Amino acid sequence: MNAANELNQHEAAAREAALAHVKAAEQAAAQIPVGNAMPRHIAHAAVIGAGTMGGGIAMALAAAGIPVTLIDASDEGLTRGLARIRDNYESSVKRGKLDAAVRDERLARIAGSLAIADVRHADIVIEAVFEDLELKQRIFRELDAHAKPGAVLATNTSGLDIDAIAAVTQRPADVVGAHFFSPAHVMRLLEVVRAAQTADDVIATLMDLGRRMGKVSVLARIYPGFIGNALFRNYNREAHFLVEDGALPHEVDAALKDFGYAMGIFAVHDMAGNDVGYQTRKAQMATRPTDRRWNDLIMKLVELGRLGQKSGKGWYRYEPGSREPLRDAELERFIVEESARLGIARRRISPEEIVKRCVYGMINEGAKLLEQGVALRASDIDVVYVTGYGFPAHRGGPMYYADQIGLANVYRDVKRLYDDYGYWWKPAPLLEQLAATNGRFADL
Ligand SMILES: NC(=O)c1ccc[n+]([C@@H]2O[C@H](COP(=O)([O-])OP(=O)(O)OC[C@H]3O[C@@H](n4cnc5c(N)ncnc54)[C@H](O)[C@@H]3O)[C@@H](O)[C@H]2O)c1
Repeated sequence: MNAANELNQHEAAAREAALAHVKAAEQAAAQIPVGNAMPRHIAHAAVIGAGTMGGGIAMALAAAGIPVTLIDASDEGLTRGLARIRDNYESSVKRGKLDAAVRDERLARIAGSLAIADVRHADIVIEAVFEDLELKQRIFRELDAHAKPGAVLATNTSGLDIDAIAAVTQRPADVVGAHFFSPAHVMRLLEVVRAAQTADDVIATLMDLGRRMGKVSVLARIYPGFIGNALFRNYNREAHFLVEDGALPHEVDAALKDFGYAMGIFAVHDMAGNDVGYQTRKAQMATRPTDRRWNDLIMKLVELGRLGQKSGKGWYRYEPGSREPLRDAELERFIVEESARLGIARRRISPEEIVKRCVYGMINEGAKLLEQGVALRASDIDVVYVTGYGFPAHRGGPMYYADQIGLANVYRDVKRLYDDYGYWWKPAPLLEQLAATNGRFADL
């Protein structure tokens, strides 16, 4: 056997081992510390908010055979939401993915309503209104008044304090986070978020409901961004810093695709819309700490009208009617000027460094989540990242990947990045400790 063959075989074996890890990790995620708590009986559900998420969640419930009342405050919102659900089913039928009879069954399980009091039959209520704490608190006060005793009260918040939502009710033990991903009828991941007072059987109920909905449920605790978005923040931030430091968007994307991502992060931003979260971030900018580096390049793109595919230009440019990202000289000039404005001397950045900075930031964050008990086990973090964030399954997830590289090696690089870049790279004590003892995340 020649050397190239041997390498290929070695790679194939490594891929297989990583895929086996992901499979085992999905099963392990269902094992949760809830003692003998049994799931509550769920025969009927209600969803509050008929928007993007609420509609998708209602479809996922209907697919699991659970009748659902979809409630919106505005007639227009409800009509639009129900129409979107019908369109989604219609396009699945047209593409031959769904039987017309099954569509009819599922549609018959979804009833619209404008009255929040209609939650009274529901064994679980999943709230998916705008991301606004006061609004959600108002909704939960009403749920407290109308939901039947013992109903699970879940919020799909992306990042608001679930304890503060639970606190406005007389039944905080029934309140839990149910973080679905968009589109919720397609994406397999469900982060179940335990708040300070959430009862064990409520956790068990949601984990079990997730399974019935065909989801992979992963238990998390309250933490900014829970598990997935906490890691994503690090990944995203480094990608943008890399662009300020000298890489161009297509170089970052190419390195990430080479690593195994189906799409690079800048192409993803252009697809999702660079203006997603613009207002929230704008509001945060006024009060955030000034002792660390921030990346606001994406804000400037929005201000230039570079919203992504929908405006024909973002991190790339797009020909009319095409989704193919093309390099854009105007954008690249802007980036070079922006680096100069920030006083950064641009330099060539290798694909290896691109991958390291994007992935090691997640690993370091993952170590912090384990230290603080936000995630139960390293493999749960892998499941979240592979099923919800497009991390290449054949790499097994960020924590598994770190174990393969060796935590001493990862730590050495994180430490070097900390020396070079400061604040964001402060090594997690757990990573440092495992590196010093030849440990692995998998053995925790
Ligand atoms: N969009 C995503 O990718 C995503 C992913 C995960 C979580 N989330 C979270 O899900 C929630 C909903 O997000 P979305 O993208 O579906 O928003 P959206 O704007 O598409 O939908 C919100 C819906 O809530 C309705 N609504 C507003 N006030 C209401 C009230 N008082 N009573 C009943 N309905 C009311 C609106 O009419 C609208 O139909 C947010 O908390 C968001 O952070 C969103």
